Amino acid sequence: MIRLNKFMAGAGVASRRKCDELIKDGRVSVNGKTVTELGVTVNEKKDKVTVEGKAICLPSSFVYIKFNKPKGYTCTASDEKGRKTIYDLIDSPERLFSIGRLDYETEGLLLLTNDGDFANRIAHPRNAVEKEYRVSIEGEVKESELAVLRKGVVKDGERMPSAHVKWLSFENGITKLSVVIDEGQNRQVRRMFEGIGRDIKLLKRVRIGSVKLGGLKRGEFRDLTEDELNLLVRGK
Ligand code: URA
Repeated sequence: MIRLNKFMAGAGVASRRKCDELIKDGRVSVNGKTVTELGVTVNEKKDKVTVEGKAICLPSSFVYIKFNKPKGYTCTASDEKGRKTIYDLIDSPERLFSIGRLDYETEGLLLLTNDGDFANRIAHPRNAVEKEYRVSIEGEVKESELAVLRKGVVKDGERMPSAHVKWLSFENGITKLSVVIDEGQNRQVRRMFEGIGRDIKLLKRVRIGSVKLGGLKRGEFRDLTEDELNLLVRGK
């Protein structure tokens, strides 16, 4: 037996909290009967759960993978502009969704799963899972600019979250930096650099929590190891 909101989240409906709202709003039924109480449990093998009339079920087995997203791909299942999506590269019989997203032009580490509940927990801001990026910038970035990013740059009148920023190198006119953030606001790293008037030449995510991109080539994916999965679940 499993709580109804956990069952729904696992099936990819929404976060447990949003699922509770759907239940309270009378949009969920179990074996044909509308359920509006929270805390109800269901038999995941036998009970028939529908959300707004559509039957949902848990995947027969859970899949957790890490993927090296190349730039020039969107993370959506279909793109209204007809651009290539990551699902053109990931051949899986399971319906996978990404845990958070990378912009079309960003490359690097992306986690995917068919376990909606796991995806929601890892992506939840409360868990503050660290994300590490390599950033390449045209020209020599000064220490004073990095200090602004560390404090939290003000962009469009709003202070962005502070970030751990480390200078790595300056070669052939390109500054390479390491940037670590623990939030995942839309275009956060790009907006931070826009805030100091710098354009990003290359943005690549190399780590999420303790899961590293490692030796994965662009477009390659593989299952997370048991250790990687356990550390992520523990918020590391
Ligand atoms: N920050 C960005 O600006 N873009 C990404 O793709 C990820 C983080």
